[in-house]
Amino acid sequence: MSIEDKIKDLLDRRVLARMGGGQKRIEAQHAKGKLTARERIELMLDEDSFEEFDMFVSHRCHDFGMEKEKYLSDGVVTGYGTIDGRLVYIFSQDFTVFGGSLSETYANKICKIMDQALKVGAPVIGINDSGGARIQEGVKSLGGYADIFERNIVASGVIPQISAIFGPCAGGAVYSPALTDFILMSKENSYMFVTGPKVVKTVTGEIVTDQELGGASVHASKSGVAHFVAENEEEGIMIIRKLISYLPANNMEDPPFVVSDDPIDRLDDALNYIIPENPNKPYDVKDVISAMVDNGEYLEVHRNYAPNMVVGFARMGGMSVGIVANQPNYLAGVLDIDASKKGARFVRFCDAFNIPIITLVDVPGFLPGTQQEYGGIITNGAKLLFAYGEATVPKITITLRKSYGGAHDVMGSKQLRADINYAWPSAEIAVMGARGAVEIIEGRKIKEFTNDVERAKFIEEKEAEYREQFASPYQAARYGFIDDIIEPRNTRFRVIRALQSLSTKKQSLPAKKHSNLPL
Ligand code: HXC
Repeated sequence: MSIEDKIKDLLDRRVLARMGGGQKRIEAQHAKGKLTARERIELMLDEDSFEEFDMFVSHRCHDFGMEKEKYLSDGVVTGYGTIDGRLVYIFSQDFTVFGGSLSETYANKICKIMDQALKVGAPVIGINDSGGARIQEGVKSLGGYADIFERNIVASGVIPQISAIFGPCAGGAVYSPALTDFILMSKENSYMFVTGPKVVKTVTGEIVTDQELGGASVHASKSGVAHFVAENEEEGIMIIRKLISYLPANNMEDPPFVVSDDPIDRLDDALNYIIPENPNKPYDVKDVISAMVDNGEYLEVHRNYAPNMVVGFARMGGMSVGIVANQPNYLAGVLDIDASKKGARFVRFCDAFNIPIITLVDVPGFLPGTQQEYGGIITNGAKLLFAYGEATVPKITITLRKSYGGAHDVMGSKQLRADINYAWPSAEIAVMGARGAVEIIEGRKIKEFTNDVERAKFIEEKEAEYREQFASPYQAARYGFIDDIIEPRNTRFRVIRALQSLSTKKQSLPAKKHSNLPL
């Protein structure tokens, strides 16, 4: 064979590999409104940046007549490329080949790029669209999953790992995405569950559809499994590209600095008036976030899950930051089980990847009730507390309004090693709200009143006294728990200056195998 023939043979093989499971199955994929594995990679990466590995791999199964049915690439496309010029590794499951099901060789391909990503310190993006374990390969497939899980675990906290779910993801296969840092699901066609509707019906008698059991909306709002939900695959891919822009390539690097044309000393007068005079009236903390950050732009994580807590990535003065904020607009910004888990996971991610944490506090306390206590608000609230206490990245806390009780300590308090604590003049830092406090400390006297009008007057006076003493930031400032009380419109500038001053922060924890986070 001449070299020309050999090159032609190579190119023919490449064409064949790119056809995956064949034209008919590609059409079926498109008919469902889904892109193919390679189309997804093309959209995810910078143009012409994809370098593919293992295109000529095929499975080694000889059971069930499988030796007669082989496809180049074997159901998963793997390799590396760039996003905005920065290196990422990627795998994309190909539903057109045996329903994207995982074989021994397929798992090896994923493991290879994960090992490579870990060696060079670059993120891994996994696009999932698969029928799970390749049934014909039996236990080899299960072993393959475990090989991937192990790498997910080893890489956790070293390189960012991001999962997109653009089709089925069921059974034990869900656990690889679950071990990664972020899961994005597309609204169309994607679902995740450990056991599908048929098994659910047999075991519990419940009748549910794929979407009701594990669709994007369910996981984005009820279970919290999905951090992002996209209208379609294209939007999902754009969200992942944006997410990558906030993150360092690995835990030894700082996040990328992005020059911004938004002046660092931009004042926002509206912030001076954003807190309503009535302390029980809500406002939208997202207005505070967008007023503070570069060009008002941020990427919210877990938008529909536990909306009483807002978390997301933004930039301030060009630096990536993680924002954690109580949301007075939903359940008065109370801390409950879901909000605690959401906040804790986000704080730990930021800490692992050198992203400073900005905390905006307006919290009336922990949510009372049997539902919360039985559900373990003690252990779950402790997660958030632990995450803040353990984090060694720069931490800046701004108390906007209420900061009551245990929730005060949890939300980035000075004693949990926040570096800089600011408060707005509207801040109220106390053990509890005035009404509750007066009912407890003056309970005996209140009961002694026989005249309702006099009782009400007494309560009102005592409340005013309590408010005067505690419903301000000055008592906390007197003890140095608050470093300064700042004018709300100047928050952006003060926070950016604080971030700049902390950019060389070094803090470490005592050597240990690992902490025992209250899981
Ligand atoms: C081998 C599979 C397959 C699998 C699908 N296919 N799943 N081949 N192993 N797990 C093949 C089909 O034979 C078919 O081949 C093609 O993929 C497309 O499948 P369809 O059923 O036609 O597609 P669709 O109607 O869209 O349904 C997709 C599906 C369904 C919902 C994923 O195929 C399905 O339920 N598959 C089985 C899922 C499953 O039980 N997997 C094991 C889970 S346990 P042709 O040749 O017709 O194109 C598991 C354990 C992991 O994963 C453990 C980790 C620890």
